[in-house]
Amino acid sequence: MRMAGWKARLTFDFDFAQFMNNSAFANRSVRANAEVGVWHEPVLLNEAVAFLQPAPGRVFLDGTLGGGGHSEALLMAGARVVALDRDGDAIAHARERLGKFGDAFLAVQADFSNADSLSEVRSLAPYDGALLDLGVSSHQLDTASRGFSFRHDGPLDMRMNPEMGEPASAIVNTADESELTEIFRTFGEEPQARRVARAIVSERTRTPFSRTCQLAALIEKILGRRGRIHPATRVFQALRIAVNDELGALRRGLEIMPGLLRSGARFAVITFHSLEDRMVKAFFRLGSERWLDRPEWPSPRPNDAWKFRDLTRRPVGPSAGEIARNPRARTARLRVVEMLMSQQREVAV
Ligand SMILES: C[S@@+](CC[C@H](N)C(=O)[O-])C[C@H]1O[C@@H](n2cnc3c(N)ncnc32)[C@H](O)[C@@H]1O
Repeated sequence: MRMAGWKARLTFDFDFAQFMNNSAFANRSVRANAEVGVWHEPVLLNEAVAFLQPAPGRVFLDGTLGGGGHSEALLMAGARVVALDRDGDAIAHARERLGKFGDAFLAVQADFSNADSLSEVRSLAPYDGALLDLGVSSHQLDTASRGFSFRHDGPLDMRMNPEMGEPASAIVNTADESELTEIFRTFGEEPQARRVARAIVSERTRTPFSRTCQLAALIEKILGRRGRIHPATRVFQALRIAVNDELGALRRGLEIMPGLLRSGARFAVITFHSLEDRMVKAFFRLGSERWLDRPEWPSPRPNDAWKFRDLTRRPVGPSAGEIARNPRARTARLRVVEMLMSQQREVAV
């Protein structure tokens, strides 16, 4: 029997979530940017660029092109950029916007977790730096037809690449009550996960879910409205993470990126909720430890995974000014590591 993609992912992600020990999602503000005509306002732009140190002759890998704001800053400093995005709209938009940089800019529609298998990416490796700015762009959130937001009625889709995988409606209409509960609890930390799941399963026997506002209205009816945050926020975020296998992609992305970087290169990751941030923090911490120690070991042992110098023991967050300008930046966290020189590691171990 064919196992739906999201079901297989669920199995992995639940294990991961357990390992990560339950996390609190910060609710991302969903204030529209569309009305001011901005595709996406880059977050922590100056901070990320300062760490990446772009300069003429340097080559960077931007795994999450979006509106191209970070790529543009790297290009303006004279660097070359290879940029990836799952979303064909983002690629088309950035090709037009950044076309003026000519051969210095290459955009490829792809998942960053496959970057190491792309000939366009491999041909310019090793890179002087890489960036992952996770999640979705304002353009995606604000485009009703993409189905990411309950603020604009649209098809219940949520795929970053609408040509691949299954839309959110497939999960909502076919997962059983316990699977839906797990998705909402694990990826959304929705305290009322079971109640919402039960209501969905009951409602869909009458009318299958096809629209974002239809689902949001049911959740609002079940949970009621308290405070400023819409009651559907956590469920929508959970579905988006499940539909796009965001944590699986991040895990693979973290594993492969170092292999594309030269010694001394910097790897920067911007996260927007604690599941992502904990994963990045754990990966960077482990890779920055020269020795590992456990109570049951007689003495510390060399760490085979040691390959980084951690440049941000504490993550970098947005300034008050940035949050005021761009509320979506509120939960952003930047972590950066530097690849150790291979001789450094050989001498030290
Ligand atoms: C927050 S936006 C990036 C914004 C960008 N840094 C800018 O300055 O405009 C995230 C983008 O990453 C893309 N994305 C998310 N996960 C991805 C993945 N695994 N592979 C490729 N692109 C991904 C999304 O489609 C979205 O366009």
